[in-house]
Amino acid sequence: MISSARRWRLRKAAVTLRAGINGSAGWIVVPVEGAELNMDSFELNKIAGAVLGVLTFTLGLNVFSGILFTSHAPEKPGFEIAVPEGGGGAAVAATTADVPIAELLPKASVEKGAVVAKKCAACHNFVEGAGAKVGPDLYAVVGRPVASAEGFAYSAALKAHGGNWTFDELNAFLKNPKGDIPGTAMGFAGLAKETDRADLLVYLNSLSHSPQPLP
Ligand code: HEC
Repeated sequence: MISSARRWRLRKAAVTLRAGINGSAGWIVVPVEGAELNMDSFELNKIAGAVLGVLTFTLGLNVFSGILFTSHAPEKPGFEIAVPEGGGGAAVAATTADVPIAELLPKASVEKGAVVAKKCAACHNFVEGAGAKVGPDLYAVVGRPVASAEGFAYSAALKAHGGNWTFDELNAFLKNPKGDIPGTAMGFAGLAKETDRADLLVYLNSLSHSPQPLP
C-alpha cells in the first residue's frame, strides 16, 4: 500500500507535469481525505488530463496544418499584362503619323496621280461635262463646294457637311471616307498612302480651267 502522503505527492507531480505540458495554469488540485476519495480524484484528474491532452493535440495539429497550408495573398492582385512601352508602338506611330499634306504637294506628281485615279474611275468621271457615274463628276472638284455637282443625289451626310473641297478636306476624306464623313454613300475604303493622296490631289487640281494655288 502506498501511503496517503506519497499518493498525494504523486498526484500533484502528475498534475504539475500536465499543467506544464499544456501550458495551462488553471489546474485546481483539491486535497481530499481518505484513500477511496483520493483515488477518485486521481482518476478524475487522469480523465481531465486526457481530455485536455486531446484538445491540446487538436489545437497543435490545427496550428501545424495552418503553417503547412497557409495560402499567402499575392502581393499584386490580378494579372499583369506586359505591354512594351515605346518600341513597336512608337515605330507604328512614326510610320502612320501624317506629314502635313502641304509639305507633300510641291513634290507630288500629276502623272502618278493619274495612275492612282484609276481606282476612282469605276465610279467617277474626270472629264468636264461627262456627268455622274455611281459618284459625281470630279472635274474641277478641288475648291468646289461640297455636294454641289448639278443633278447628283448626294447622301444626307455629304449634303450636311458644307464648306469647299480644300486640299486638306480632300486629303482627310480620301484617306478614310467613312471615317471622315460618317454616312457617306462613297463605298471606297480610302487611300492609306499619303504620297498616293498627294499625287492624286495635284492630278485632280490639274483638271480645271483655273487650278487652285497649293497651300
Ligand atoms: C465605289 C464607288 C466609288 C469609288 C471607287 C470612289 N468614289 Fe468617290 N464617291 C462615290 C459616291 C457614291 C459619292 C457620293 C457620296 C455621297 O453622296 O455621300 C462620291 C463622292 C466623292 C467626292 C465628293 C464629291 C462632291 O461633289 O462633293 C469626292 C471628292 C470623291 N468621291 C472622290 C473620289 C476619289 C478621288 C476616288 C478614288 C480615289 C473615289 N472617289 C472613289 C463613289 C465612289
